[in-house]
Amino acid sequence: MSTWKEDLGTSNEAFSLMQSIFANVSDAILVIDHEGRIVKANAALAQMSGWTEEELVREKHICELCLGMATCTEETSCTDCFFKRVQMPSFEMRLRTKDGHEHPVAASSARLPDDSSGKLVMILRDMSAQQRVEKERYQHKLTHFAIQAQEEERKRIARELHDGVGQALYSILVGLNVVRQGNPGEQVMQHVTELVNMTSKAMEEVKRMALELRPSALDDLGLLPALRSLMKRVEKTFHIQVELHVQGEKRRYSAAMETALYRIVQEAMTNTAKYAQASQLAIMFENREKEVVVTIVDDGIGFEVEKTLSVGKGLGVFGMKERAQLLGGTVDIRSAPQEGTTVIVRVPLPKEGILDDHSRADR
Ligand SMILES: Nc1ncnc2c1ncn2[C@@H]1O[C@H](COP(=O)(O)OP(=O)(O)OP(=O)(O)O)[C@@H](O)[C@H]1O
Ligand SMILES: [Mg+2]
Repeated sequence: MSTWKEDLGTSNEAFSLMQSIFANVSDAILVIDHEGRIVKANAALAQMSGWTEEELVREKHICELCLGMATCTEETSCTDCFFKRVQMPSFEMRLRTKDGHEHPVAASSARLPDDSSGKLVMILRDMSAQQRVEKERYQHKLTHFAIQAQEEERKRIARELHDGVGQALYSILVGLNVVRQGNPGEQVMQHVTELVNMTSKAMEEVKRMALELRPSALDDLGLLPALRSLMKRVEKTFHIQVELHVQGEKRRYSAAMETALYRIVQEAMTNTAKYAQASQLAIMFENREKEVVVTIVDDGIGFEVEKTLSVGKGLGVFGMKERAQLLGGTVDIRSAPQEGTTVIVRVPLPKEGILDDHSRADR
């Protein structure tokens, strides 16, 4: 094995190699003297902090750059912190930049053994990008759990409404019919008939609410039958003519995918019903080899997409996008005043193809 000396050649060559490394590495390197003044700084530190190398070396003390270290909580001053704990091989630090921002950095420090002046070498690595990625990953997970919990809760409430309130109302209806058959007086009969009507209406309302919360067709029969029954409800309630066109082989997708697509179409249809003043709505459902594309088109009054969504009052479109993103897909909304609205949903199919696990919790 060759030695450093052999590799580096003459001391001049070694010096220029060291200088080049110092100048070109992407990690920031700085040397501080025994009082904490910066005596050497490389270009990476200048880039990270916003101060020039000259400014750093001429004017800066390490404590002007350090906004705090995770490992240093008890010391009273920054200088104490650095110089009493210099043996820390690695630590996290918040680096202050010239424009007043801060960067999370991973730092390591070392004393040079043959330097009697007590200089400390520090290496800093900017962790902003990694932290951003981690934060996004965490938020992604959080959204996934929130949506999953919401679906579970909707399912539970729908079941309770159907089995609890629905059954109780049905028993009342049966009881009232028994009273009616007993030929009570005219006045009582009138009351009972009113109660029968009210109870029937309440039963219908409970059924509608349970269906909206979680249609059992989605679990039992799949996405397309559930969408068909949603379309019928929209047609009946809002007097909009709804068409569904299906292209490609009809099949079942994963529970998570069917639920997400159902909720996205449901929100798009609700928005059409609420705002579009549309008379027609068409849903194109394309089963492609590698993705599912659902296009929802209305002939309503349209809206200025960017302007409206940047105000961010509603959560519907945001939720549609989140649901699609969780499956690696997208939701694209195209609209303009007086030109109707088109919502295009694309969700890639997982590599293993069709999943028939329809009992998972994220339904
Ligand atoms: N099909 C459509 N036609 C006309 N305007 C629409 C349509 N879809 C959405 N919009 C407009 O976009 C806005 C944002 O929709 P979004 O679904 O995000 O929120 P919301 O429906 O107002 O509230 P939420 O969905 O949270 O109940 C709506 O308020 C409406 O102005
Ligand atoms: Mg909405």
